[in-house]
Amino acid sequence: MKVLGISGSPRLGGNTDQLLAEVLRGAQSRGAEVSTTYICDLDIAPCQHCDSCLELGDCKTADDMQLVFRQLAEADIIVLASPIYFMGVTAQLKAMIDRCQALWARKHHLKIPPLGDERPRKGFFVSVGGRKRAGNFEPAIATVKALFATLDVDYAGELVFPGVDVLGAILKNPDALKQAYEAGQRLAG
Ligand SMILES: Cc1cc2nc3c(=O)[nH]c(=O)nc-3n(C[C@H](O)[C@H](O)[C@H](O)COP(=O)(O)O)c2cc1C
Repeated sequence: MKVLGISGSPRLGGNTDQLLAEVLRGAQSRGAEVSTTYICDLDIAPCQHCDSCLELGDCKTADDMQLVFRQLAEADIIVLASPIYFMGVTAQLKAMIDRCQALWARKHHLKIPPLGDERPRKGFFVSVGGRKRAGNFEPAIATVKALFATLDVDYAGELVFPGVDVLGAILKNPDALKQAYEAGQRLAG
């Protein structure tokens, strides 16, 4: 079983990355093969709505998104992780999500499986936000759910932590890290 973690945080080793690492460690403890893609290390342009994907189901923009398309197709479980930026996921992760319009085209225009085959896949979302306000995570959750629905990936839930702001704050919350580890175990179990 392959578990792909995708971090959308530009703060490498920050709160999001720590939580994602715990989810993956939990999955690995159940025998899963895990890998992490740091979106901010990649060169991924925003979707230009050129509509060329409507014909072939592929995106013609030749950048690192082509690698991410392959990684998504190979994964059995996809864990998206992002801090909240202005109520949403980071711009870098949103660019990746928008580029999945090519996979939307496969599903809705070409009527072919968006990830190339129809094996069951699961998706999970991990997030942190500095604020403590209720509803802080709802827009990001809606975005991630829309992506997974487009990819025919079953939404397996989320783990979100409000009031987590400064670098390393999550490390002072062992319960959050434990929850992340256990979520990884459940996903892969
Ligand atoms: C540009 C920007 C926008 C942000 N917007 C929000 C927000 O709308 N709501 C919130 O709760 N936190 C917001 N934050 C705080 C981050 O979510 C928080 O610092 C988080 O812990 C960062 O995670 P990281 O360590 O993985 O980078 C924002 C931070 C930045 C830099």
